[in-house]
Amino acid sequence: MTTLPITPPSQIITGKARLAGVMGWPVEHSRSPVLHNYWLRRYGVDGAYVPLPTAPEGFEAAVQGLRAAGFKGVNITIPHKEAAYRLADVLDASAQRAEAVNTLVFREDGKILGLSTDGSGFVASLEAGHLPLRPQTRALLLGAGGAARSVAAALQDRGMKVTITNRTLGRAVVLAAALPGTDVLPWSGWEQRLGEFSVLVNTTSLGMAGGPDPLFCPSLTRAAEDMVVADIVYVPLVTPLLAAATRQGLRTVGGLGMLLHQARFGFKAWFGVDPEVDDATQDHVLNSL
Ligand code: ATR
Repeated sequence: MTTLPITPPSQIITGKARLAGVMGWPVEHSRSPVLHNYWLRRYGVDGAYVPLPTAPEGFEAAVQGLRAAGFKGVNITIPHKEAAYRLADVLDASAQRAEAVNTLVFREDGKILGLSTDGSGFVASLEAGHLPLRPQTRALLLGAGGAARSVAAALQDRGMKVTITNRTLGRAVVLAAALPGTDVLPWSGWEQRLGEFSVLVNTTSLGMAGGPDPLFCPSLTRAAEDMVVADIVYVPLVTPLLAAATRQGLRTVGGLGMLLHQARFGFKAWFGVDPEVDDATQDHVLNSL
């Protein structure tokens, strides 16, 4: 006798469905469709979220087409974040500071709103781990790319003192100039200065499976025992850096939380529900990794 598969919770897609998606090139590695469609089912929202592979030369036409076709908005991933920043009619403060946009909202008044939610997502993931974000707390960021910029701005907005170190010093200097109050440290020997910081954040691709140095594991011996170590890399979930921090008894925050929390802002704007990031959400996305 054949057993019928268990029917999954139905996703309601009617003629009134709200539509959103993720634009990237390529886009097939994005976890956003898995995450947003999970939330849509969970909250019984009449809607759908689809991957939108969009080559750079067609990006602007695609955005206007999606808007004309009634989409509520889109997430933006590599390589379109700067193009989306230029295209948006209205930018929120985080997008202005990041000079990049990862979420577009097609407003009822016809205007396109651009948001940068990575930094807020990072802060939310720290808060979800009950980690202290006190004003004047000193944070050291590894990296000076787009992710560093968003995280640095969000930490500064919480009153924290941010220091950037980066392999290419010039990029760190440019970033620090764009975010007044930020300090710069040379890349060589930053480990020796760890004792001055309460939070360490890796915003580079170091430690990522398949990245430039998957085994990246700096020395943490100078860290104070209450230092928090965060990584925005989430493949693997526990990077060598986080594993070393745990071995040393330090508190850690992995990159998956940032990925999940940054998505809440778009979901709420398009579908009208502020979704919860809980263990079930995390497990659902993990099963797709
Ligand atoms: P994103 O916008 O996603 O942050 P990015 O702009 O490519 O991506 O930035 C990647 C970061 O990882 C940069 O800080 C980069 O350092 P450089 O500015 O010197 O390129 C850092 N990075 C990448 N590979 C590295 C490596 N092998 N050693 C040290 N830093 C590295």
